[in-house]
Amino acid sequence: MVYQIYVRSFADSGSDGIGDLPGITGRIAYLADLGVDAVWLTPFYPSPQRDHGYDVADYLGVEPTYGDLADIDALIEQCHAHGLHVLADIVPNHCSSDHRWFRDALAAPPGSPARDRFYFRDGIGPDGAQPPNNWSAVFGGSAWTRVADGQWYLATFTPWQPDLDWENPAVVASFDEILRFWYARGIDGFRVDAVTHLGKAPGLPDAPPPPVGARETDVAAHNPYATYWPSAHEVWRHWRDVTDDFEREHPGRQLVTVAEAYTARRPDLLVDYVRPDEFHQAFSFDLMLAPWHPAAIRRAIDDTVQELSAVGAAMTWTLNNHDTQRSVTRYGRADAADPASWSGNNLVASHAPVDLAVGTRRARAAVVLLAGLPGSMYLYAGEELGLPEVLDMPDAARADPVFLRTCGRERGRDGCRVPLPWTTDVSTAFGFSRGSSTPWLPQPDTWRSFAVAVEERDPTSMLQLYREVLAARRTHVLDDETLAWLDVHANLVGFRRAGIIVVLNPTAVPVAVGDELARAELVLSSSAQGATWSGIVAPDTAVWLRA
Ligand code: NOJ
Repeated sequence: MVYQIYVRSFADSGSDGIGDLPGITGRIAYLADLGVDAVWLTPFYPSPQRDHGYDVADYLGVEPTYGDLADIDALIEQCHAHGLHVLADIVPNHCSSDHRWFRDALAAPPGSPARDRFYFRDGIGPDGAQPPNNWSAVFGGSAWTRVADGQWYLATFTPWQPDLDWENPAVVASFDEILRFWYARGIDGFRVDAVTHLGKAPGLPDAPPPPVGARETDVAAHNPYATYWPSAHEVWRHWRDVTDDFEREHPGRQLVTVAEAYTARRPDLLVDYVRPDEFHQAFSFDLMLAPWHPAAIRRAIDDTVQELSAVGAAMTWTLNNHDTQRSVTRYGRADAADPASWSGNNLVASHAPVDLAVGTRRARAAVVLLAGLPGSMYLYAGEELGLPEVLDMPDAARADPVFLRTCGRERGRDGCRVPLPWTTDVSTAFGFSRGSSTPWLPQPDTWRSFAVAVEERDPTSMLQLYREVLAARRTHVLDDETLAWLDVHANLVGFRRAGIIVVLNPTAVPVAVGDELARAELVLSSSAQGATWSGIVAPDTAVWLRA
């Protein structure tokens, strides 16, 4: 099980209100205790933080507000001492406009090798005043920005994140060096950012009109010339070679690469990223984006399992990440159980009213289900505390470029990135900082009741459930990768894995499972009411049984 740490928001070892590497190192024991096997750190490289690290200004360094190279070395060492692997986040589609590569490109004339690392093009129309094509940016606005000498450059996300041209061997060579640099420092693998955007159609043709009703931030996903372009797979095969070579040269090292590939209910596309000579893993986001409805949940799991197991690829599940509304809020929406409420894009959020009690019950059940699935499981920091999305953050406090680039039309992702509460001490931002601080995103007063120190003492807390779930997962199901569906009842999602039967009731009505399962032994329950088993799965509840 991999635990995602949003570096800015996990723990601040000082009092600047920004999380940092020593802050994480100081909390490794907590993670080991929780039962995690590995951590994934969001980008910790020097960055102007226009997209909070996903705008990298130097791939071989550490952001000064987070620490320095000695701090990352110490973090890796502590993790390894506790038996945890460390995954770093790498961003190959684009760098920061502050990166030396881009500054050199701006200083160099059109047609120069420095500009060839990126997509610089002349504009069209009189004086080249129109962008070279009609592509939109993922975070709003055009994907093109004009520079002082009149040329334009392509940036799929924001103008501060210019896209790198991977047809250029200099780009390939630079990243070979970067991968090897971090592997040599002890990093055990990479989560690879935005892999579906890397590679563009030759000639950069105009995109066809987006489907009617597509949202602003979804438009780029419908551009066939800038999404899933096949040339990227050559890059991933090459990265696999670099990784395998490093492993061979360093016996005992075991490296993992995981692709961030949003393939919107198309596991047939996802499969391409986990071919035997590409990534070891690729997140299957369909379960995360599915409505809370039995048929939809079954379908999200089954489509993924069918496609991936047919080619012998590993499954990789998650319910939360730093781009997606937190699960207790998502599942608490009044329309969450509507079978039509599939979300095709992690940024799209319903505006229906939220019932947090319902959402929390469902999020508890969801993790019990998830932990029973074959393959790997990724958690996002704060999910184990049941933190809700912060929906009422003042606009002035918002820092996400999605909010800024869409002029507030889309609220963005700040609500799932609020610094974690560790204690009830308000003066230290609920223990997030060591000294008195103002956290970089404001914490709601309610954060007090979600603090680690509070949940540790409450046997019914989300934290205790996560500890139980992770312990049960280790004990019972890790050694078997097959899933067999059980036809228990149309309102239930049920399957067998290893010796365990997992049953979820994602409806508002209690369901009886029949005599045989009623006689089974209860191993785990998402219910906070105490674990008893009478053969009835309560609404919004999941159980593990042993027959
Ligand atoms: C995906 C990352 O998860 C997200 O946070 C980031 O904004 C984009 N890629 C651009 O790098």
